[in-house]
Amino acid sequence: MSKSVLITGAGMGLGLETALYLAQRGFTVYASVPEAAHRDLVMTRAAEQGVTLHVPRLDVTDEASIRETVGTILAETGHVYGVVHNAGISLRGYFEDCEEEEIRRVMEVNFFGTLAVTRAVLPSMRQAGQGRLIFISSIGGRIASMARTAYCASKFAIEGFAESLMQEVAPLGLHVSIIEPAIIRTERWTVHRGIARRALDPDSPYREWFQRQEELADVLVRTSPTKPMHVARVVYRALTARRPRLRYMVGWRAKSVLLLRRLLPGELFERFYFGEAMRRVAGSSS
Ligand SMILES: NC(=O)c1ccc[n+]([C@@H]2O[C@H](COP(=O)([O-])OP(=O)(O)OC[C@H]3O[C@@H](n4cnc5c(N)ncnc54)[C@H](OP(=O)(O)O)[C@@H]3O)[C@@H](O)[C@H]2O)c1
Repeated sequence: MSKSVLITGAGMGLGLETALYLAQRGFTVYASVPEAAHRDLVMTRAAEQGVTLHVPRLDVTDEASIRETVGTILAETGHVYGVVHNAGISLRGYFEDCEEEEIRRVMEVNFFGTLAVTRAVLPSMRQAGQGRLIFISSIGGRIASMARTAYCASKFAIEGFAESLMQEVAPLGLHVSIIEPAIIRTERWTVHRGIARRALDPDSPYREWFQRQEELADVLVRTSPTKPMHVARVVYRALTARRPRLRYMVGWRAKSVLLLRRLLPGELFERFYFGEAMRRVAGSSS
């Protein structure tokens, strides 16, 4: 019997690509979307590729929708073999320009939403003595960058949560993997860019720096060699490896920066890497 996998936020971007990739390789995929209105688009993409996707409505901040979807998967397939925690939102802007409510929303979706979905699937995975929990973090969950305080904090939180959870559930036969992609061109960089309401306010003391930061981000997005398919492949690996790794980095840029951080003494890395980032944006690092 084919293994069932739930993906959150699968209406576009990395989630949709992963859903299609897994369905092509024999998984029963529940490509959940927060708005029922996005269902048709996902179904159309699935039909174009000749695969079947189930498309339940699941908003990670709406517990009833989580319960209902997990209940449906259990009723239809008898198990939830894997979960890909992919849903996430961005918030771009210097900290002083980010409102409390905007920051809380990022934590609600990226952190508490992920916890809620985990809580919903764990009992059945535990009883089955198998299951794979895959968390789509980010290079921003290992190395933070300016104008993304809330986003990086949410991804650092996910890294800590998942690393801790791994130690709790490994003795039960469950696997946890954290996936850390570099920048990838998806809707995240257009419709979902998540610019804080005050970030471009002419009165903001950070406006100019933020604009420069955005221009630099655009260059990185435009020139990024990493594609959604690379994430899909790594998710597949984490779902099928006999011994999946705790962490997978995706994209050579993410790998090189993390390697640099591992090799250089802390202070040197900070001076070199963060110093260069600050110089490019603010013209000076102190
Ligand atoms: N693209 C990158 O450069 C990059 C790099 C590193 C990590 N990541 C991470 O990879 C994941 C996917 O990113 P992406 O680039 O594919 O972003 P995306 O194109 O913006 O897609 C994000 C998806 O999450 C969904 N979503 C938002 N709020 C939700 C909620 N409350 N409940 C359920 N789903 C919700 C969105 O649905 P709606 O459209 O209906 O809002 C959308 O389908 C995110 O966790 C992101 O942080 C992305």
